[in-house]
Amino acid sequence: RLRQEEKAWKINSLASEFFQNVLLRNPGAEAARGYLISRGVTIDTIKDFNLGYALPEWDALIRFMRDKGIGIRSLIDVGLAVSNNNNKTYDRFRARLMFPINDSRGRVTGFGGRVLDKSNPKYLNTPETEYFNKSKILYGLDKARQHIREAGYVIITEGYMDAITAHQYGIKNAVASLGTSLTRDHGKLLASQTREVIIAYDADAAGIAAAVRGLDILQEAGCRVRVLHLSEGKDPDEFLRARGYEEWQRQVERAVPLVEFKLQMALEKYKNVSSSKDAILEEVLPSIAAISAELEKTEAIQMVASRLYTSFHAVAEELHRFYKNNP
Ligand code: CTP
Ligand code: MN
Ligand code: MN
Ligand code: MN
Ligand code: MN
Repeated sequence: RLRQEEKAWKINSLASEFFQNVLLRNPGAEAARGYLISRGVTIDTIKDFNLGYALPEWDALIRFMRDKGIGIRSLIDVGLAVSNNNNKTYDRFRARLMFPINDSRGRVTGFGGRVLDKSNPKYLNTPETEYFNKSKILYGLDKARQHIREAGYVIITEGYMDAITAHQYGIKNAVASLGTSLTRDHGKLLASQTREVIIAYDADAAGIAAAVRGLDILQEAGCRVRVLHLSEGKDPDEFLRARGYEEWQRQVERAVPLVEFKLQMALEKYKNVSSSKDAILEEVLPSIAAISAELEKTEAIQMVASRLYTSFHAVAEELHRFYKNNP
């Protein structure tokens, strides 16, 4: 299995070089270069993240690999080629901007490919295998590691471009969860670097729902989770370009603990606090229960009690009931 994994790294890394060469030099990549320029991505960033381009041809990569002695079978195995019902084989990624996805040690384990226009799917990714599993990968972690330690916290965003733009703006402790909700494996991946997590997901319904999902899991893994709120409809990439670094830092300072974030959302949803105390409590209890540090938990109970105009004791009782029902 390890041999297979090593083979995949090697092929993916070769492919990544190929895609980047195409992006930087091929006349057929003019539109891709223009696209990146229009989004403000610099040449340093392109090189730092090894961005590339897959030409709009059926077999550009297959032919390149054949010359290197790598056959179609291997390409299919790593997800770079596909074969259809008629046994025709072709490149999986065509006419897409390519984002190599590294593991935390910098080995290329897969790709995301973005269209240059509004067509669907916007992103196509390497299919999941035993060794390419998005719920175990944080995009950009290989580059962010050292900076996460220095800053003392990690910023988790949703998308490729969010992590990339953050790095370009000097926010190098940023990674992306690639649209999937956070898992215990993500928690483990971070545990040795930091336990301070700031979530900066898209300020749309999907992003907020994703932010809420999975975060209890991170708290259970011992992380302290805070949520950064961006203005209406924006993601970190758009926010940084529109409002800049200083404004970003202000939002980081204002990031609220997960329990408080959930409480705010529940308060907005139910409006009438006094008649909805139980329902609101129901929404925040799982996040309080997931806090592993006792002092922090006590603070959360206190905060919720005061915002719901009830006693510490009443909230603590409900928490006990919650524990009993969810052993
Ligand atoms: N994603 C995916 N497949 C899709 C859509 C999204 O894998 N069809 C993942 C990608 O990792 C993407 C992330 O989810 O980066 C967040 O999705 P979205 O917010 O829609 O994309 P952005 O990252 O904002 O992409 P862009 O700014 O290029 O439009
Ligand atoms: Mn660095
Ligand atoms: Mn989104
Ligand atoms: Mn975006
Ligand atoms: Mn987005």
